[in-house]
Amino acid sequence: MSDVQFLMPKVLRGREGIYSAMSQRAREYGAADLAQGYPTIEGPREVREHAARELLDGPQQYIDPRGLGPLRDALAGDVKNRYGVDLDVDSQVTVTAGAQAALAGAMLGLLEAGDEVVFIEPFYNPVVPVARLTGATLKFVSLRAPDFTLNEDELLTQMSDRTKLIVYNTPNNPSGHVLSRDEIMMVARACERFDAYLIADEVYEHLVFPGHEHVSALQIPELRDRSVVISSFSKTFLMTGWRVGWALGAAPLIAGIRKVSELTSFCLPSFVSEGARFALEELPDSYLEGFGSEHLRKRDLLCDGLGALGLDVLVPDGTFFCSIDIGKLTTDDDLAFCLRSAKDIGVAAVPMSLSWSERREARNLVRFCFAKKDETLHQAIDAFASWMDKQ
Ligand SMILES: Cc1ncc(COP(=O)(O)O)c(C=O)c1O
Repeated sequence: MSDVQFLMPKVLRGREGIYSAMSQRAREYGAADLAQGYPTIEGPREVREHAARELLDGPQQYIDPRGLGPLRDALAGDVKNRYGVDLDVDSQVTVTAGAQAALAGAMLGLLEAGDEVVFIEPFYNPVVPVARLTGATLKFVSLRAPDFTLNEDELLTQMSDRTKLIVYNTPNNPSGHVLSRDEIMMVARACERFDAYLIADEVYEHLVFPGHEHVSALQIPELRDRSVVISSFSKTFLMTGWRVGWALGAAPLIAGIRKVSELTSFCLPSFVSEGARFALEELPDSYLEGFGSEHLRKRDLLCDGLGALGLDVLVPDGTFFCSIDIGKLTTDDDLAFCLRSAKDIGVAAVPMSLSWSERREARNLVRFCFAKKDETLHQAIDAFASWMDKQ
């Protein structure tokens, strides 16, 4: 615990943001920064221009805390187009300050002491301490390398009559695994059997590579009254700083998320919301096609480049993360390896085991983000090549 943390609840103490710490090291040593999961590629210019006009000429006051009406309409329209599912924009769609606020809202707005929540791990790290704050009991089910598939018996073992929520993210950060329809049906059956609800974090929904299919919880009839899907503008439009996220689905779950969001951020800036609406409704279909093919190219550039050096690369099915198995390279675990990789190799990465409770899996895996400029990806490959020559 650092000396300023003594006022915090215990569950929040001692968490030094590992992702930003790794990026900090990258800057310090001039290393290729493949650590933090944000793109260094610019989002679409016409969206920024539209939002800039709206900033100057549009409304300047608080907006509807549920989200700007036209943005909620656009979100419902997108779900209708893609999945043929009708959502009620008043009770089933809510806009939040990024997916992260929707996830935190789901934990704080739906859990309390006495409840249990089952995380399918690897999890998205920031959600777990928020769940702990609520006093609920946390349970975990592991997806394990190399294929990271879900085992139904292991899931059922963690469920009980007190389980209120199951939480997963697919396409999965950090493993890159895309949950199949069969795996999602395992979750749906568990929800039905134990009268539980699902929080499905789908922020990488548009980053699924050939041979794999993103199945949204919204497409599963058995989950229709039992789930919310959380997603955001950050990854799909390469604008993580805009902080536009949303939750879509069952009204009682939306109500909890909405309540927390109203009590905290209250609403989003109207010009940002209108920019997001524009992106969803007015960018041509070719935008998403280009987004997918460009990230496939970057995935292959990095994975093939590292693979050609003889590294054990785990090629992802989706997301913009890949990983390597460091087992044959070093006796260090993932955390020790990442703490020195910016300095010793010239590449910043993040340890995967931190996305499992008590680091009980993946101590041999480190994650790279490939949503970076090509020159950064080449720099990383070259840095590994020279380091390996010296070994
Ligand atoms: C799995 C997952 N969920 C949620 C988020 C948060 O997204 P946002 O920027 O919309 O808050 C991230 C961001 O890295 C993520 O990887």
